[in-house]
Amino acid sequence: MRVRNKYRKPTAFPCNVGSRCSISAVVWSLVGFLLLLQFYSLVSRRNEVSRDITLRMSRHPLVRELEQVEEENIQIPPPRGKRSPRAAKRRPKRTTTLVDEFLDENSQIRHVFFPDMKTAINPLKDAGNGSYYYYPGRIWLDTEGNPIQAHGGGMLYDERSSTYYWYGEYKDGPTYHAYKKGAARVDIIGVGCYSSKDLWTWKNEGIVLTAEETNETHDLHKSNVLERPKVIYNENTGKYVMWMHIDDANYTKAAVGVAVSDYPTGPFDYLGSQNPHGCESRDMTIFKDDDGVAYLVYSSEDNSELHIGPLTKDYLDVKPEMRRILVGQHREAPALFKYRGTYYMITSGCTGWAPNEALAHAADSIMGPWETMGNPCIGGNKMFRLATFFAQSTFVVPLPGIPGSYIFMADRWNPADLGNSRYVWLPLIVGGPADRPFEFNFGFPLWPRVSIYWHRKWRLPSALSV
Ligand code: GAL
Repeated sequence: MRVRNKYRKPTAFPCNVGSRCSISAVVWSLVGFLLLLQFYSLVSRRNEVSRDITLRMSRHPLVRELEQVEEENIQIPPPRGKRSPRAAKRRPKRTTTLVDEFLDENSQIRHVFFPDMKTAINPLKDAGNGSYYYYPGRIWLDTEGNPIQAHGGGMLYDERSSTYYWYGEYKDGPTYHAYKKGAARVDIIGVGCYSSKDLWTWKNEGIVLTAEETNETHDLHKSNVLERPKVIYNENTGKYVMWMHIDDANYTKAAVGVAVSDYPTGPFDYLGSQNPHGCESRDMTIFKDDDGVAYLVYSSEDNSELHIGPLTKDYLDVKPEMRRILVGQHREAPALFKYRGTYYMITSGCTGWAPNEALAHAADSIMGPWETMGNPCIGGNKMFRLATFFAQSTFVVPLPGIPGSYIFMADRWNPADLGNSRYVWLPLIVGGPADRPFEFNFGFPLWPRVSIYWHRKWRLPSALSV
């Protein structure tokens, strides 16, 4: 016989059959309401994205040209030299890939990746019908007829002079190895600066931050490393501020340096370096948000994660606040941009000068959390897409007047002759559904797709090219 416990304490929700029902009804309605809310916000976000694409396409039919998918069909040449019958029988350890060919200075298809001077883009000679065409990978000459030296670079649009300034590593020196197992290197020469009104014709403004020739203890001593310089303008101080990766030849210092100038064309005064937030800092970039707050983003913890934190008001230092993002993902070469309140970032994997697969990331807040969306590359062929068109991200330039359209700036490194590395500039478009649905979003893509389209030859929509 069951004895009822008269003294049983009432539960927090005294319930008989009827009230239990009403509690669960309330809970389920709440869940239903939340689901509906989530569904509604996803659908409206999706509609917003497609409305935006329609708007962009109707306003700029020329963007469609940039979104054409261009295929590449490159045949890998047969192995050089006669193989012995025994060798011929043996299965090769690893199939030769296009990346192997790319890294082989003696490859028969070297000209595909590094076309020679005969095909150089020469804005002075190519005026007229040939004007404004970008040919990713070709030598690009400045207005004096010299190859542009602005590797690992970044772009500043100077509102005051309505001029673009392209800053980058001036690497026109011999490539050598300081250590047997170390990365190929070129002595620091300085930061090159080029100016342009049309993003195609570039005037050499000289070396705006120069190497130190004699003082071996100086960060900029030629035996050290200066990479990925980026410049932003500070409205509060009226100064142009440059941030860059500073290292020793062995990449053990892992620091970030700052320089400042009254003019975009320098000369920049070097202020010193630091390990930001007490951490290692290798590949890096800076990003200035619409509200004037600027951020430093850098690869840290042996390049296993990125760190992000705001700069001080004068942009000369970091504030103590920092967030770890893309933890354990081993990403570098960050390039950030913002579209319709969402932050986007393109990164590369960590394989030194060798190309690898780019990834696009997105975040609602710049301090994170950041989500990884996938490979943004479209066209070429599978190897092109898996090797970011044989290049590595460095910067993303917004195209004025075409919301959601950008130039993706990347470096096609030439590890055998770093000064002869090439530029791969391609159209980057935000829009369209993401290719992979994410968790917790009911199958709807949370972010619009970021696409980088391969083109052997392309130019900006004509409205911009003057
Ligand atoms: C890359 C990096 C470059 C340079 C190179 C040296 O991973 O993105 O900026 O540091 O390594 O090997």
